[in-house]
Amino acid sequence: MQHLIDLNSLSPEQLYEIVDMAGRISQNPSHYAEACKGKIMATLFYEPSTRTQMSFQSAMLRLGGSIIGFDNPSGSSVAKGESLKDTIRVVSGYSDVVVIRNPNEGAALASSLYSKVPVINAGDGGHLHPTQTLTDIVTLHNIKGRTENLTIGLCGDLLNGRTVHSLIKTMCKFKGNSFVLISTPKLGLPDYIKELLDEAGCPYKELTSLHKAIEELDVLYMTRIQRERISSDAEYEAQRGIYILDAKKLEAAKPDLCILHPLPRVDEIEVEVDDDPRACYFLQAEYGMFARMALLVTMLVKDSDIGTTEKEGKVKITVDSTKCLNPRCITRKEHYLPNRSLQIGEAIACEYCEHRI
Ligand code: CP
Repeated sequence: MQHLIDLNSLSPEQLYEIVDMAGRISQNPSHYAEACKGKIMATLFYEPSTRTQMSFQSAMLRLGGSIIGFDNPSGSSVAKGESLKDTIRVVSGYSDVVVIRNPNEGAALASSLYSKVPVINAGDGGHLHPTQTLTDIVTLHNIKGRTENLTIGLCGDLLNGRTVHSLIKTMCKFKGNSFVLISTPKLGLPDYIKELLDEAGCPYKELTSLHKAIEELDVLYMTRIQRERISSDAEYEAQRGIYILDAKKLEAAKPDLCILHPLPRVDEIEVEVDDDPRACYFLQAEYGMFARMALLVTMLVKDSDIGTTEKEGKVKITVDSTKCLNPRCITRKEHYLPNRSLQIGEAIACEYCEHRI
């Protein structure tokens, strides 16, 4: 069984194969028009989405397949109290691939335990968003011509931004990349991802000023403050509006800076920036469809072995009595889930959400 839960199950070579295929598909879409004929993709979106849901759906339709699913769990039997496990068991009997977005961290991995077909993580809470990273890599390849030797600035909510976590985990595999982490102290990158950067020998620095950081960047990845993951309105109001990219700030930036944003944007990029040739975020959203077409072909047609959930260099163990203490972990909501832990050096982490236990 092959799933895509985290891009750490793909080597850089496998990532490049998907990037290359996304390019071939965009050049010659008619060649792939029946690649997934007869296949059904279920999209189960427990959280709102525009890009991820619609780009997956249009990807499958353009490959000749069909789609089922829900984008509002209150209109499904989830509203009657159906567990994730039961929903996945049933829906995976109706489909050839399940694409799931869920507010709980680790929900995609949990789903994969009960699915008869491949599961793709379309965002699990504030944890990961691997297909956004595929989109980002396709964009960098197309615009910068490389995914290596880049100084990448990430700005905004680095604590709760799942796109940021997936992107850093993946880009630190490519040689020569370094990171500038721009956030308030309250919304800084989680420690476990900084540990991964240290393990990979990947240089990074943490700054609170976008203005000071901007001149050295090859890529600037802006993110919104994730209101839905911040506990109070007062805390959200204290964090919003601190980082706003505008034409004035861009005066100090490189002429070939690539400005990315996973979108949706709230107020962190002024509309005036949209007309700057360095603004690549709408093109990025468009590339997302080709990235997902390439992923579906790779998983469903080529049947490539891309999605094992084995974690290189880490010992997988099960600690039955050790519960994850992360309140956002899927194990705190779906109580039947087995406790699954990873030993990482001296530390033990929950396998679902990666929080240290
Ligand atoms: N980038 C992204 O995940 O957008 P949506 O929330 O609209 O899917």
